[in-house]
Order: sequence, then C-alpha cells, then structure tokens
Amino acid sequence: GAPVEADVAKLAPGEMMTAEWRGKPVWILRRTPEMLASLSGHEDRLADPLSAASLQPDYAANRQRAINEEYLVVIGICTHLGCSPSEKLQAGPASGLGADWPGGFLCPCHGSIFDLAGRVFRHQPAPTNLEIPPHAWLSATKLLIG
Ligand code: FES
Repeated sequence: GAPVEADVAKLAPGEMMTAEWRGKPVWILRRTPEMLASLSGHEDRLADPLSAASLQPDYAANRQRAINEEYLVVIGICTHLGCSPSEKLQAGPASGLGADWPGGFLCPCHGSIFDLAGRVFRHQPAPTNLEIPPHAWLSATKLLIG
C-alpha cells in the first residue's frame, strides 16, 4: 500500500485522530505533558517496557515510542487477536482500573491494557506492545505514514 499523509494541525493536546494505512487504523495521539509524565513509574508492571520484543522502527525504539515525543503514532490493533482497543482511558480511579492506572488503552475482547505509549501491561493476553508503523514528519504538522 502507498504511504498516507495525515495533517495533525487541528489536533489539540490530549486529542487523538485515526488515519487509515493499508486498511489498518493508525492512531495519532497528541500527548500532553501529563500524559508524557505518565509513561514513567510503572515500567515494572509492563511486559516489554523497552519494547525489545515489540514491533517498531528503530527511530521509535525509545520510552516514548516516538520520533516527536508529543505524538504517539501507533496501529490501533491489539497484538493478541486483532481487536481494536478503546481509544483512550483516563488515568486514575475514573478508569475503573485503580488509582494507580496511568491512563492508556483497553482491548474490549479479552481485557488487555496498554499505556499511552502502547506498551502492554504484564499478565495480559496481548504478548507485545502495540505496533508502531513506519512514519516520518514532513513538517511540524504533516505526518507521512508508511
Ligand atoms: Fe485484545 Fe484479545 S484481542 S485482548
């Protein structure tokens, strides 16, 4: 499939949009400073905190799993059996996942939970983190996926 362009100029901090690439949903989440801070402190609860066993391009093999840490670009397909996780779960008790839940994604099929870098928590059906697709920034707000 051909690469697709996404324009994130209208995306406010904390908002997410979905692009389609090769028939797959690609989520683009503009993370707030609070969301970025939420990526620390629960590494010991993650199955693959450094994404060593997960799929991403080398340039996204970091804690934020991103080129530009403000933007998470991730394929919205669960690495267990391919369901689509919920877009975003609030941090804290409102999520129903406990006060120490840092915020992230929930797969409705078998309950796998992921943080705001798409990293899966331990003891979930999903074996690896959500996949980061190949991508590049053409400008500050223009993203090329693929
Ligand atoms: Fe997501 Fe099974 S498909 S937990």
